[in-house]
Amino acid sequence: MALFYNIKVVTTFLFASLFFGYGVIELQASHHVSNHLQDVATSQSLFSDDQPYRTAYHFQPLKNWMNDPCGPMIYKGIYHLFYQYNPIGNGSPDGPRVWGHSTSLDLINWTPQPLTLLPQLEANMNSSWTGSITILQDYKPAILFTGITPKNEQVQDLAFPKDLSDPYLREWILVPQNPVMSPTQENKINATSFRDPTTAWWLPDGNWRVVIGSKIERRGLALLFRSKDFINWVQVDHPLYSYELTGMWECPDFFPVNVNGIPIGVETSAIGPNVKHVLKLSLDDTKHDIYTIGTYDAFKDAYIPDVGFQNDSSLRYDYGKYYASKTFYDSSKMQRLLLSWVNESSSLADDIKKGWSGIHAVPRRVWLDISGKQLIQWPIPEIESLRINPVILPIQLIKGGSVIEIPGISAAQADVELSFGLRDLSNIEKFEASWTNPQLLCSQKGASVSGGLGPFGLLTLASVGLEEYTAVFFRIFKDYDNDKFVVLMCIDQSRSSLNPTTDKTTYGTFVNVNPIYEGLSLRILIDHSVIESFGGKGKNVITARVYPTLATNDKARLYAFNYGRGSVQITWLTAWSMKKANIA
Ligand code: FRU
Repeated sequence: MALFYNIKVVTTFLFASLFFGYGVIELQASHHVSNHLQDVATSQSLFSDDQPYRTAYHFQPLKNWMNDPCGPMIYKGIYHLFYQYNPIGNGSPDGPRVWGHSTSLDLINWTPQPLTLLPQLEANMNSSWTGSITILQDYKPAILFTGITPKNEQVQDLAFPKDLSDPYLREWILVPQNPVMSPTQENKINATSFRDPTTAWWLPDGNWRVVIGSKIERRGLALLFRSKDFINWVQVDHPLYSYELTGMWECPDFFPVNVNGIPIGVETSAIGPNVKHVLKLSLDDTKHDIYTIGTYDAFKDAYIPDVGFQNDSSLRYDYGKYYASKTFYDSSKMQRLLLSWVNESSSLADDIKKGWSGIHAVPRRVWLDISGKQLIQWPIPEIESLRINPVILPIQLIKGGSVIEIPGISAAQADVELSFGLRDLSNIEKFEASWTNPQLLCSQKGASVSGGLGPFGLLTLASVGLEEYTAVFFRIFKDYDNDKFVVLMCIDQSRSSLNPTTDKTTYGTFVNVNPIYEGLSLRILIDHSVIESFGGKGKNVITARVYPTLATNDKARLYAFNYGRGSVQITWLTAWSMKKANIA
């Protein structure tokens, strides 16, 4: 990443921001205007043909480049979201990073706060990269983040709120001891591979622990540091975990989850027999957020995954576009929440033209499945407060080769829940043992390739003449060798846009459900240029960014389809139009 930065740029930017609308003043004004929006009919008048890809209920700043969520927390009843922000360059990533900051009472409507972690010391002179917040024992929040020095070295810095009585914690001050962790000759850490501290956890030995992402040659590393006072940090003589040939590990996240499928979150420092631990890594090489579930031995300070690292077949939070995610424990609702960056799939030229780049996924509640083998994710219930005008489709059989419109919703801004039932298995195809890569299988068997059972699902962000659509669908196979069904879930973007420059990768994943006993459930959040699809009640998720040229705003349509030979039944379908959230 190109870095060019100096105090002058930032100061100029700060002044410019007050005049041009980054400051609190102007944004609070727009907040009031948006409060008058009662339904989509009104908000549709705000649909802009110049900006058809801006989202209505996904978090994004007014303009410029945004990437990773940083330091999410709830403090004195207020949610705080910080994020990587490039204050210059419109939608281009080229430039420095500071922290954007917004606050919220419900994680849906956000009030922008002033930018923070601007250059204060040499230890963050060139940029303030990703980091996390830990609430210390005296109920004082501390930010640990990666500072970029004038020599472009990555170091870890510590900052505290300037004024704890400010409910919005608008100003953060770096401690004079910074940097508090640095790459040195002794620890053999490369100064360009040492970043993204996790939330710290506290152990009964009286020390905090924190993990920093790193690599040595091609071995990815979750480096472990400990500290008694949060200022003096010592590297532990072994990493928490490492794995060969995986490249740089960015944005590690390490947290406990309740065993036995209890959907209640636990505080980051919890240890003991009632919890398992999750280690999430953002793989720089593939831009995938993968995770393992395992045991944390607090005495040995070691993490042992139940199933070792599996490269391409590792578990992922999301099998589409979803990177640099981070969880936090929401003590007000005893839940663990997952936030993530969802990058654009459009060309840099298009991003600069629209003047912004990057959104965040709708926050997801996350917990361990009863099987103990994977996580379950579900959009936070607060998002349902934006739902209006439900359209309910009666139970019906969809014959092979049919397309049914779901009328009466704002299809560019919707939330859809549905479930399919299989009534006739006579057409089911055999699953081949060589089909180990679900994404490849989805690409080979796209939405237009007819099969035995499937493809069936929804055509989202579709144009009236079906010149454009993004298909979210299932295919069902029988694995005769293991006597079980195989459920493939895909998002086929090949027809998503007539614009030839947008990325049209097809995504896919196998969903571990029995379609006969459990049915096949799908929840899809559609928001202008993003589609988040939750299969199998949150077992597998695929997020895609799409940029239709015809199916925009009120011209978008939603259809159910079945291009397989066998019929399938829609056992339940409700589609809601969504109001616009107050974000910027
Ligand atoms: C991940 C990342 C982090 C880094 C930040 C810089 O997207 O590359 O590793 O701290 O972005 O913006």
